Amino acid sequence: MPVGAAAANLNGSKFVAMGFSGMNVWAIGDLHLALGRPEFRERHAGRWREHAQKLAREWRGVVGPEDLVLLPGDVSMARNHREVQPDLAWLDRLPGSKVLAPGNHDGWWNGVAKVRPMLRRTLMAVGGDALATHGTVVCGSRGSPVLSDDASAEQRAEHDRELASLDRALAAAASLRTANQPLYVLWHYPPFDQHGRPGSCVGRFERAGVTACAYGHLHSEGQWSLAVQGEVNGVRYACVAADAIGFRPLGLGGSDTSVPHGMEKAP
Ligand SMILES: [Fe+2]
Ligand SMILES: [Fe+2]
Repeated sequence: MPVGAAAANLNGSKFVAMGFSGMNVWAIGDLHLALGRPEFRERHAGRWREHAQKLAREWRGVVGPEDLVLLPGDVSMARNHREVQPDLAWLDRLPGSKVLAPGNHDGWWNGVAKVRPMLRRTLMAVGGDALATHGTVVCGSRGSPVLSDDASAEQRAEHDRELASLDRALAAAASLRTANQPLYVLWHYPPFDQHGRPGSCVGRFERAGVTACAYGHLHSEGQWSLAVQGEVNGVRYACVAADAIGFRPLGLGGSDTSVPHGMEKAP
């Protein structure tokens, strides 16, 4: 079970030493909220039964009002802006400021320019661009799976579009970043494949001096055990799919995340 390992890797002394004067950075993805789709929840509840309540409880247990929380995709199962409103309202009520990026299930996300105007007070978004907040720079994109040799032309085209989006995001981040500021990337898909081979995004992260990449998308223990986590060539990787981390946001840096808070939840 990678939960404890991930938490331990991500809370090493180097990371914590970056402390941001009293605030913390957390990450959690794949919330798969469906508060605006009761019929969906009844059909697909299963292991996600009442997970919003569990998420809220865990979130309130660790995240403070001054903190920053990064959400790398699969935020909501809503299909449009109307359906996503209850989910955004629910997120807004939780402590901290949040930065959202889209995942493959975020059918409501129709581009960051259209999403931003409807975001509530504590919510921000990135999608092929970047923002500076809480003494950090955050950028991101939906991302793309690592290409396999037998990828279709359609998959290759999508992959190329997302890499171009990542290049724009990293360029925007570079223009915002000042010396020694942490740079976080939200990228929904695992940057390495199940054999540990890096995707095309990884070299870009390294060249840009990314501090940490938060990703998700993986929803089984078999996948989590193969996911690359911890530091690779100066970049830290964290699989923060909600079910992979016990529905509790994972600390990425700051003053209160020195305790590997996922450890006590590892079975
Ligand atoms: Fe997901
Ligand atoms: Fe996903």
